Amino acid sequence: MSKSKNSKTSSSSGLTPTDGIPADLELDKVKKWVRSRVTAKRYKHIKGVADVGKRLAKACGVEELPVLLACWLHDSCKEIKATELITMARSYGMELSTMDERNGHILHGPVASYVVQEQFGITNHDVLSGISEHTLGATTMTRISKVVYLADILEASRPEALTEPIWNALTRGGDKVRLNTPEMDSNLDLDGAILKASDLVIAHLLEKGKAIHPKAVDVRNHFLEAVKNQETASSREPCSQ
Ligand SMILES: [Fe+2]
Ligand SMILES: [Fe+2]
Repeated sequence: MSKSKNSKTSSSSGLTPTDGIPADLELDKVKKWVRSRVTAKRYKHIKGVADVGKRLAKACGVEELPVLLACWLHDSCKEIKATELITMARSYGMELSTMDERNGHILHGPVASYVVQEQFGITNHDVLSGISEHTLGATTMTRISKVVYLADILEASRPEALTEPIWNALTRGGDKVRLNTPEMDSNLDLDGAILKASDLVIAHLLEKGKAIHPKAVDVRNHFLEAVKNQETASSREPCSQ
């Protein structure tokens, strides 16, 4: 992950000032930059991710600005060829596994977390980790990173066979339409939703005969344990860790 060195605050966005986000950074400027780097179809997906991210941020009571920035920027390097992503990752000092080198496209998140530091001066940990971790997840995800990961996989154009079980896990069997109502928001299960997403993604890769990144397995096992621990705990907190 990228290192934080800038602690300016943001005000131009109209949202709560946040450390590591330049004061003059406007969301519109970010959107225009992203639009210039991706196809129209990809931009529509990114906008959809930001829409879901906004709802989830509100529901989980996490800061909206880092979530929105991470959502808008998460796929900003997705159109870069795998070979170039590998070169860029090395130039940023990232250590790459054989799996990373064979599947360079999965580096679009981690590489973007460095590119946006250079482009916009963003050093906020939540924004950078949200961008970096959106594809494979991580065992050390912050609540904001979890929200970004889920927003990406729950974006409206994804197949319902994928999104419905994840919404169901997130809302503990509730109706997603009621998200952002107090009774729903107090009962969300971020970890359960990430476990379900991990299971579905891994099952899909197995079905297609594709390789599974070891990190994806680690993340799945981490959230399996987290959910088991939740179930044995006497009280379960809303928007669980
Ligand atoms: Fe992505
Ligand atoms: Fe995405």
